[in-house]
This record gives sequence, structure tokens and C-alpha cells, in this order.
Amino acid sequence: MAVFHIGECIRKTKQKIPLSKEEIRQLVQGVTAEPPIPDYQLAAWLMAVCFSGLNDEETAELTMAMRDSGQVLHWDLDGPVADKHSTGGVGDKTTLILAPIAAACGVYMPKMSGRGLGHTGGTIDKLESIPGLSTALDPKDFLALVRKAGFAVAMQTGNLAPADKKLYALRDVTETVDSIPLICASIMSKKLATGADHILLDVKVGSGAFMKNDADAAELARRMLSAANADKKDCTAILTDMDRPLGMCIGNAIEVREAIEVLAGDTDSELGIFCITLAAEILRMAGKGSPAECLHMAKQAVTSGAAMERFAMMIAGQGGDARVTENPALLKLSGCSRTLKVAENGWISAMHSEEIGRASVLLGAGRMTKNDAIDPGAGIRLCRKNGDAVQKGDALLTMYASKESQLDEAEAMLRGAVVIAAEKPAPAPLIHQTLTGPAADSAPKAEP
Ligand code: URA
Repeated sequence: MAVFHIGECIRKTKQKIPLSKEEIRQLVQGVTAEPPIPDYQLAAWLMAVCFSGLNDEETAELTMAMRDSGQVLHWDLDGPVADKHSTGGVGDKTTLILAPIAAACGVYMPKMSGRGLGHTGGTIDKLESIPGLSTALDPKDFLALVRKAGFAVAMQTGNLAPADKKLYALRDVTETVDSIPLICASIMSKKLATGADHILLDVKVGSGAFMKNDADAAELARRMLSAANADKKDCTAILTDMDRPLGMCIGNAIEVREAIEVLAGDTDSELGIFCITLAAEILRMAGKGSPAECLHMAKQAVTSGAAMERFAMMIAGQGGDARVTENPALLKLSGCSRTLKVAENGWISAMHSEEIGRASVLLGAGRMTKNDAIDPGAGIRLCRKNGDAVQKGDALLTMYASKESQLDEAEAMLRGAVVIAAEKPAPAPLIHQTLTGPAADSAPKAEP
């Protein structure tokens, strides 16, 4: 084995000379070794990647080496196992709706999820707003619940891709987060370590997302698909709009309430259509039928009540109060509330999701620093959405927080986040494009 020099890797990457597979493996091993490669050299290499990039082969090898830095899970289940990952958004409660639908249709979804990050929400925080529910599950109980309910949601453990944990913390403080190969390796190392055969990637694009435009989002999706292919996983990436929040609610308990509304039969709302479309794609990938059959099956799972049953089973199995599925008012909202009114006649032409996400953090629904506690009942319910005609004085949105001062701060931010125009804006599709497997290298498929 050649002698490894981290300085040589920094020089090569800086000069766009590809690293060998062995060099990448040794670099990643050095991240968690004792003693590890010093932070200053890792940070220099990360910065070199930000400026000079990595090619597809290097990105795939980096992903695989990071996957192998910890435990790689294998599921002993008698049906297809699927996973879904969102690159992070505002109001994104898709997992809470899609996983019970997939489970009701015979696809297992053992989900490892994270907490909110910055202005974006996290599935774990949302689920923990359900009284009694725990996401710190013992692996045996987790598997037993997946077998019974078809899905369960646990907090991601430190044993999965520990090299990413260390590199992500370094990237966070060295301005090296926004590099497509590094984001790809970070996300996909964890996804591949969770052991699903079929992976659906929801790549958010727009003001509230890491990727601000379609070209960057498509490049990230292409890299992620290529890393999945290198691991022989079936993978689809869907580019979805994050220029506006997803659905009408932003927060934790309030988003679980909205997910319950969809599972109770609200399949024609924008959120309902979105989740059913994504769930149908999971069913198609898992071999459950043609796209049309899978769409029908996913919708049926909601209208028949089967998906809600699975949701209740998961909640009860994780120690939560499953009565919330019949009585969402058991999901308490915070005590102070205020409704903002529309200031002028016109059409809502923009709802800047990053600012709306930041306002929800000010209300207490997210964290300013890593160790902050969140207020599960804080959040925002939108009364109107992009493209709606509005009149001065109409209710625009309602905010919930524990203190009046939080409402004041969030109000100032929210007033700047909503734009009213004199002209009706052109409709903006929620799904921008879909990319699948090796075909991702050719022209993307446009969605209707
Ligand atoms: N989420 C991750 O897990 N990693 C990134 O680099 C960005 C988003």
C-alpha cells in the first residue's frame, strides 16, 4: 500500500488532479482514526474541494468510504425496503404521509431521520410533538415495529457514517457546506448505510433550499444518483419547489395536524397530491405496478383509511398517544397567537420560504443553537398561498408562540416574506423534474 500523505491530497485536489480510490479511502479512514488527521488539514482539503470540485468517480468513492466508516444496516424483511430523503425544506412533512402510505401498500420503510437544521424542519422534532412518542428506539424494538406497522422512525444513530458526522461539523464552521460533491457524499453515505434497496431523493430547489436554482439541484441529483448506482441501489431523484413552503403549516405539532388532515382523506390539496405522487414513485420503484396503478394504489391507501391505521400503529408502537389521529386537537398549539391580515388587494406572487422558516424559528419551532429546546406547539398556519387572489383585510396567516415578544419578532420577518402583486402570477409547478438511475445522464423527464 502506498504511503499516504494528506498534504499530497490537498495539493492534488487544489490542482484538479483526481485522487485515487486508495487515497480517498485512506483520507476518510484518517477522519475517524486515532490519532485523526488534524482538523486544519482536513479543513484545507474541504476548502480545496469547494474551489476545485471532485469528479464523479471521486465523489462516488468518497460516498462509499464514508458509508463504510460505520455500521451498514441490512434488513431481514419479507418485502421491498425503501427510503426517502429530503434535502431539507420548510413545511416538509412528506415522510409523515408517504411512509404510512407505502407501508399500507406492502413496502417497508425503516426511517432514520434527523432534527431541524437552521430554518428547515426535521421529522424527529415533528414526531416528538406527539405526546409520549419516542424516537430513541432500541434496534430490536425498531425492527419489530417495522415488521408490524411497515414503518418506524428513529433518530439517526452516531454509528451510521461517523466520518460524515466529523466532516459535517468541520464544514459547518469553515464555510465549506455548499459544495455539491461534499453534500452528495454527506447525504448519500448516510442513505446507503441505512440499507434500503430503493431510495427516493426529494431534492428541494428554491429560496428555502440549499440549492437555489434548477441547474445546481439537477447537478446534485445527478451526483447522488451516480453514487447510488455505484452501490447498485435503485434510486430516483425528484426536484421539487422550495420557493414556497410545502403545504399550509410550518412548525411541529401543527405540521403533524396537517399530515393527519391528508391521511384523513384530504387527497386533493397541493400537499396531498404531492405526497401521493411521491408515494406512488416509491411503489413503482418497489415493483408494485405501473405508474398509473401505483398512483391509484397510493390514493386508495388514504381513502380506505389503511394509511392512517399504519400511522396510528407506528405512533402507539413508539409510545405515543395514537388518539391524535382521531382528535388532532390533542396536539397542542402554543398559547399566544396572532393573525396577520393582507395589507392590499392583489395576488400573492411570492412567499419566501427561507424567511418563513426563519420566522418559525423565532416563534420557537426551531433552534438558534444546537442545544436549544424547541417549543413543539409553535408555528405558522398559512391562510393563503402563492397565486391566491386576496383583498385588503383578509386573514393571511396565524402565528403561534409561547410569548408575545416572539410574535412581534416573527411578524416583522413575515411581513417582508409575502409579496402581493397587482397581476396574477404564472402558476409554479411543485414538481420541477424527475431523474432516474443511469438515465439521469441523459435528458431529464419533465413532470406535467
Ligand atoms: N444534509 C446533510 O446531511 N449533509 C449536507 O451536506 C447537507 C444537507
